[in-house]
Amino acid sequence: MNTNDVIMRLEKKEDYREVENLIRESFWNVYRPGCSEHYVIHVLRDDPAFIKELDYVMEKDGILIGQNMFMRTIIEADDGRIIPVLTMGPIGITPDLKRRGYGKRILDYTLEKATAMGYGAVLFEGNIDFYGKSGFDYASKFGIRYHDLPEGSDASFFLCKELVPGYLNDVTGVYQTPKGYYVDDSDVEEFDKFFPPKQKLKLPGQIF
Ligand SMILES: CC(C)(COP(=O)(O)OP(=O)(O)OC[C@H]1O[C@@H](n2cnc3c(N)ncnc32)[C@H](O)[C@@H]1OP(=O)(O)O)[C@@H](O)C(=O)NCCC(=O)NCCS
Repeated sequence: MNTNDVIMRLEKKEDYREVENLIRESFWNVYRPGCSEHYVIHVLRDDPAFIKELDYVMEKDGILIGQNMFMRTIIEADDGRIIPVLTMGPIGITPDLKRRGYGKRILDYTLEKATAMGYGAVLFEGNIDFYGKSGFDYASKFGIRYHDLPEGSDASFFLCKELVPGYLNDVTGVYQTPKGYYVDDSDVEEFDKFFPPKQKLKLPGQIF
């Protein structure tokens, strides 16, 4: 799809390394010194829970400037049901073009695609200041708890958006992050050697 100055399209195999580099640039030193997200997407593409039909990139003047992707996961409901849901990310925008509305554009576009495919809800970890503008709210408001988080802990990082209104109306339970998101630091280090050298910095605001 061509929306004025950008093209949204599915990621192709030949984009893989460029997208990994884009994600590396986008996340580098943001949440920790260096980052692991470029390796995470490298691994997730081969995961059975990965949704190829929702693996989107955004192109501007022939250059990839953003991407987003989704995985299938579940809520283990308190009444014993297994509720299929989506989780999302990594999502990233090239550093020079952050805070110009591109992130919101690919986010909204891919959420529309996920809705059209019939998925009921998306849950994941993120900042409400950005995702709130695209209709996300705290998952706690939907009665959904984050796995392994002690009761009473701050869960404001854990967000939810219903794609089908009312999808979680009669559900309370625990959300599970797909296993594929957990990667070994040593594997990240090895993978990172395929990319141009970059300096890892400890910066204020990092959470790890
Ligand atoms: C997070 C990210 C995808 C947002 O994309 P973006 O193009 O920079 O954001 P947009 O311009 O579309 O933002 C729309 C609004 O969301 C809010 N917002 C965006 N990023 C924000 C941030 N990091 N903190 C707080 N609010 C943010 C702002 O209100 C912004 O509007 P404003 O710039 O007029 O104030 C992008 O900044 C990025 O790649 N960051 C590094 C990787 C990352 O953190 N990914 C998300 C992990 S959950």
